[in-house]
Amino acid sequence: MSLSNSAVAPLSIDHEYEITLVRLFTLMAVFWGIVGMSVGVFIASQLAWPFLNFDTSWLSFGRLRPLHTNAVIFAFGGSALFATSYYIVQRTCKTRLFAPYLAWFTFWGWQAIIVAAVITLPLGLTSAKEYAELEMPIDIAITVVWVCYAIVFFGTLIKRQTSHIYVANWFFAAFIITIALLHIVNNLAVPVSMWKSYSLYGGATDAMVQWWYGHNAVGFYLTAAFLGMMYYFIPVQIGRPVYSYRLSIVHFWALIASYMWAGGHHLHYSALPDWTQSLGMVFSLILFAPSWGGMINGVMTLSGSWDKLRTDPIIRFLIVALSFYAMSTFEGPMLSIKAVNAISHNTDWTVGHVHSGALGWVGMITIGSIYVLLPRIYQKSKMYSTNLITVHFWLATTGTVLYIVALWISGIAQGMMWRATNPDGTLSYDFVQTVVMSHIPYVVRALGGALYVTGMFVMAYNCYKTIKMPSPEALETPENADADSVAVQA
Ligand code: HEM
Ligand code: HEM
Repeated sequence: MSLSNSAVAPLSIDHEYEITLVRLFTLMAVFWGIVGMSVGVFIASQLAWPFLNFDTSWLSFGRLRPLHTNAVIFAFGGSALFATSYYIVQRTCKTRLFAPYLAWFTFWGWQAIIVAAVITLPLGLTSAKEYAELEMPIDIAITVVWVCYAIVFFGTLIKRQTSHIYVANWFFAAFIITIALLHIVNNLAVPVSMWKSYSLYGGATDAMVQWWYGHNAVGFYLTAAFLGMMYYFIPVQIGRPVYSYRLSIVHFWALIASYMWAGGHHLHYSALPDWTQSLGMVFSLILFAPSWGGMINGVMTLSGSWDKLRTDPIIRFLIVALSFYAMSTFEGPMLSIKAVNAISHNTDWTVGHVHSGALGWVGMITIGSIYVLLPRIYQKSKMYSTNLITVHFWLATTGTVLYIVALWISGIAQGMMWRATNPDGTLSYDFVQTVVMSHIPYVVRALGGALYVTGMFVMAYNCYKTIKMPSPEALETPENADADSVAVQA
């Protein structure tokens, strides 16, 4: 059976599945990707050239930084996760979404929440908890939309026409349940007015709850959910089942069992009890194993067809995403070692680590998956231009490498300079000297980000041209009928 790139979904897909919703979420992912990353380039430029704050409060770095993180994580990443999870759960369960009206409500609800964030964050309305800055009315809206998402997703799993639940859905299920738990517990607060509330927790407890949230947002949102994407779109694009289905199940349980305990590594040398910090470090080191197990499973799916890396830029996106996943999940456990964290904490090294995960892993797996998904949901034989995907690939890869190398240099130098002392015990450098040192790395980071965003514009153009392409008469042939399902069967 041919499992080539042209093996697309049946023509009747619109009738069989809820696809218009998937289309809209996919287009919004591209749109919010451009917005969120452009804000990223702007704040990166502000760090290099501070006059760009224009002495205007709502344009200042402090207000736009949370706008950037919320836009890339929740608007870009979130829309992509809604799109792919709704697509994958329907295709692998061979059934239409449960409660389609509720599913549509999650689309409009999620977009409204993003717009509310875009308005309130620049106005300075914030609960000041990282990645959970939005104030109570928006938090309540997030809870409502998320519960509806859970009903739709689990309802679809329950009414599935298959005996088996494909592994990608396990990852999405863990992501949906955990994010609900994290969001509700971390945002418990006492409101003092409509737009101001204070955390229910205080002092070290507040910090611990916040980083239990923060780290598991990395683990279950930025990692597990995108692994769900990986487990579907890599086999589909390569045209063969995942290398080891058994390993994917071990990967799943090992990953979710260890992530929960690692959050303490964000609070090394703080008022948190010492044993809690050490527990965080030990579980971070353990996390290396399941992370690399999953990565190897994805990469080995390509074994025997390595030549495809030369000819198919979409596979390149997917495999390079896994390489950056490998890199950031090697770097993370290293940063969690207390002696290393004593150098890296509060420096640009952390920000570089974040973006090797964010640009290299989250960004590239999403981009690769959208290139696989878009022709399927618009019933085209393939993307409009493979050359433009290649251009995008090089822009994204060069941008990511420039970003993280610049911040390694800046971060490690900051860590070393802040600690350096003279024989008489005084500091060798004053703070301003470290700021001056960081200037060139900051310019390079802004350039790297600009390349990455340029790639997103190229993608938007390619998607637009693909949607405008005429659909072939008959995509459905006995050879390619439901080839995707063959690739993702257990
Ligand atoms: C064009 C691409 C991007 C650029 C230029 C960019 C730039 C920046 C800058 C300048 C900061 C503030 C760093 C600081 O406070 O010193 C930041 C923070 C952050 N960005 Fe990005 N970013 C980009 C893409 C992304 C993407 C795609 C994601 C996630 C999927 C992301 C997630 C984050 C996070 C989580 C932080 C907070 C880091 C921390 O607290 O250590 N960024 N970004
Ligand atoms: C085995 C996996 C990983 C481990 C053990 C790990 C560990 C760490 C450590 C030790 C820090 C520094 C904490 C500090 O000094 O403040 C950190 C920061 C961070 N990591 Fe990772 N990391 C892992 C993977 C990832 C991945 C794949 C991503 C993104 C997709 C990511 C995103 C982040 C973010 C956003 C922060 C910054 C949090 C903040 O201070 O705002 N990490 N990680």
